[in-house]
Amino acid sequence: MMKHPIRLAFCLTGSFCTFEKAFAQMEKLVSLGYEVLPVFSYHAASLDTRFGKADGHLNRARQISGHEPICTIQDAEPLGPKDMTDILLVCPCTGNTLSKLALSITDTPVTMAVKSHLRAEKPVVLCPATNDALRGSAKNIGALLNLKNCYFVPFRQDDPKKKPASLVADFDCVPQALEAALHGSQLQPVLV
Ligand SMILES: Cc1cc2nc3c(=O)[nH]c(=O)nc-3n(C[C@H](O)[C@H](O)[C@H](O)COP(=O)(O)O)c2cc1C
Repeated sequence: MMKHPIRLAFCLTGSFCTFEKAFAQMEKLVSLGYEVLPVFSYHAASLDTRFGKADGHLNRARQISGHEPICTIQDAEPLGPKDMTDILLVCPCTGNTLSKLALSITDTPVTMAVKSHLRAEKPVVLCPATNDALRGSAKNIGALLNLKNCYFVPFRQDDPKKKPASLVADFDCVPQALEAALHGSQLQPVLV
């Protein structure tokens, strides 16, 4: 048993259409007693889109978590060395960030947070949402399914007719997927 609340780095990347679902999970995790430390990719922190303004998203994370979001590589770097996290969630996780993680590319606050957190062999949970999951991103998902200390929120095809290569995680499974990962297990079934 941990003596402190479970410290979760909650990383958001630019799947803007799923931000509502992500914030609902952030609220849920705070209500479950997690200490949530928000981390935004550069694009998540800076792009205004038809799904909302960047400042609004940063404020929302600030209000829900009570912490200032981490938005730079230099602020994400200490997570591992300073033992600031017990588990890390990327929710939502874009195809772009999946590809970088699969190749160990570390050029955003989120990929830096993952690298820093993994240093001490702690669990990382990915909550994917990408239209090319069964095309260009498939090999990256495969590589990450095979990566030590890396787990997935169970996912499904969201619209096989109109978006045949698209996969999206079942965001409602985030708390269970974290719980399983904290025990070193992948929540099953991973394909829902
Ligand atoms: C409105 C909007 C919605 C997007 N939705 C998604 C998405 O659901 N999944 C995805 O992989 N990329 C999506 N993208 C593209 C990413 O934002 C883009 O690849 C970006 O470079 C991701 O950077 P990041 O992974 O560092 O956040 C979207 C872009 C825009 C403008």
